[in-house]
Amino acid sequence: MKKIKVFAPATIANVGPGYDILGLALEGVGEHLEMKLLDSDEILIHPIQDYPDLPLSADENIAGIVAKAMLHKLGLKQGLSIKIKKEVKPGSGLGSSGCTAAATAFALNELLNQTFSALELVEFAMLGEKATSGKAHADNVAASLMGGFCIIKSYHPLEILNIPFPKDLRIVVAHPQIEVKTADSKKILKKEMMLPDVITQMGNIAALISGLTTSNYDWIRSGMNDLIAEPIRSYLIPGFAQAKSLAMENGALGCSISGSGPSIFAFCENENQAKDLGNQWKQFYADLEIDSKIYLSKINPRGTYKMEES
Ligand code: HSE
Repeated sequence: MKKIKVFAPATIANVGPGYDILGLALEGVGEHLEMKLLDSDEILIHPIQDYPDLPLSADENIAGIVAKAMLHKLGLKQGLSIKIKKEVKPGSGLGSSGCTAAATAFALNELLNQTFSALELVEFAMLGEKATSGKAHADNVAASLMGGFCIIKSYHPLEILNIPFPKDLRIVVAHPQIEVKTADSKKILKKEMMLPDVITQMGNIAALISGLTTSNYDWIRSGMNDLIAEPIRSYLIPGFAQAKSLAMENGALGCSISGSGPSIFAFCENENQAKDLGNQWKQFYADLEIDSKIYLSKINPRGTYKMEES
């Protein structure tokens, strides 16, 4: 195989209380990446449609950084041509950089005859996250590569659990078209937490995960509260408190910030509720004179996959 096209799904990281440890894959939105082996040893990243500001040098572009690390590990000097088509803007909170990293790691591994394990691919993809945000968090890249709902049980050593989830649980995402850089929204978080808050947060995560694995919507509802990121980051997102109130008044099971924002998401029990909330959020942002994109999804069991090879 000399050439491959892959698709990596967008993701919601943190998922309420799970700062840096929970992530899920979304349906129908993500990133297309085409990779070709070259006879030279150059890593050529083509201009990215709609994103002329993204760096194209292999040392700065996420795809270049991930690919170079993988080739270096194998002691290979292999040239690559990489074409990226983004459906999600960088700085959206939907794992845009994570999609590039996941798609690159997956595509190159296929071209290298699946030399690396799934966990190793996550580790390579995390290098892309480190380059973008300053921290090698795995919640976006694990969910994008593996699909479904992931728990990053441990970073050292990296341990990831792919847990069962309710197949019918609906997700509504609103992406107000403003940019929040993950690096900035990481810096503003408190470095320490008081023990009573840690206890509350642990209870929330336990309830959320128990609810997801047993399809108990009451437990999901009771666990969707975050004391780490949301109280601080919500100030970066215009109208967050009102948008969350709309979701909860609409009967959502929970609502929080997607990744580092500005996208927000809600869990809903059924499609009608999800559609209603999507419409209400669209109107809400229009009233604030902020353009927005709405996505309706379930948790996507499929991670990054091969679309074509030759
Ligand atoms: N867990 C990361 C954070 C995800 O919240 O900073 C960034 O998309």
